[in-house]
Amino acid sequence: MAIMESEVKRIERLSSRHLLGLDGMKAEEIQLILDTARSFREIIDRPIKRVPTLQGKTIVNLFYEPSTRTRISFELAEKRMSADIINFSASTSSVKKGESLIDTVRNIAAMKIDMVVMRHSSPGAGHLLTRVLDANIINAGDGGHEHPTQALLDMMTIREKKGRLDNLTIAMVGDISHSRVALSNIYGLKTMGARVLVCGPSTLIPREIERLGVEVYHNIDDIIPQVDVMNILRLQLERQRKGLFPSLREYHNYFGITRERLEKATRPILIMHPGPMNRGLEISSNVADSEHSVILEQVTNGIAVRMAVLYLLAGGPSEIH
Ligand code: CP
Repeated sequence: MAIMESEVKRIERLSSRHLLGLDGMKAEEIQLILDTARSFREIIDRPIKRVPTLQGKTIVNLFYEPSTRTRISFELAEKRMSADIINFSASTSSVKKGESLIDTVRNIAAMKIDMVVMRHSSPGAGHLLTRVLDANIINAGDGGHEHPTQALLDMMTIREKKGRLDNLTIAMVGDISHSRVALSNIYGLKTMGARVLVCGPSTLIPREIERLGVEVYHNIDDIIPQVDVMNILRLQLERQRKGLFPSLREYHNYFGITRERLEKATRPILIMHPGPMNRGLEISSNVADSEHSVILEQVTNGIAVRMAVLYLLAGGPSEIH
């Protein structure tokens, strides 16, 4: 039987110094992050959006892959909490001269930093950092593996709009195979008691994904009447080998979320997308910009979730006053 949120025990601290993924994270820890994010959310709307919570902490944002939302959102969260921040971009660093990840982070560590936020194309890159650095490590996306803060902000948005996570039916739609967002959402949502469906062409759904407790569908029109939430994933053309589906037009015809398709819904469906969107491919503009869409609210909640994660990893209420 699915867990009910009201049954989840209350805790004050996370069990790990790092946030590398949601695989194995307990329901009470996810609930702590979401509750903390809710209390930080109002700071974002204040005229003076700054609290001294992380004063004296130095955070490096280490981005080896492109990012708009995650990078700006972490930077804003850190600034809102008065941390000192360094932004590192691989494309303008000595990585271009051949310096390795380990040498890069050892040099950064020698400058006495407290936390590292890292995006990297290699799954497990964050785990590697925990072995060579004494700082708190936060995974901001590691290849096709996990993107935990994205899934947490998705869960915060669903909880805000639907009032709960347990016993909701939530579909991850599209390119599941190449999506770190899908994997982190599956781990987090299953832990919090949601029913999770995945839907896409069989070439874009990993074999044996049912082992994670999800239900697999290949016809989008079969899931629309059942779901409370659809999280539509970007078709990750840059990570795919050729030939996974006949053409972009055919993909849109079979799996694109359009107004016409949504008319088959039997209840109000929340439309989500982690971004960046391919408008007219996995999602039509008139859905992305519709009254069902909470895509920009996801982005705003991202700052609150990242503030909560930074605060809790820095020690939470017992360390920070
Ligand atoms: N959702 C997400 O990770 O977006 P960015 O790649 O722009 O950070």
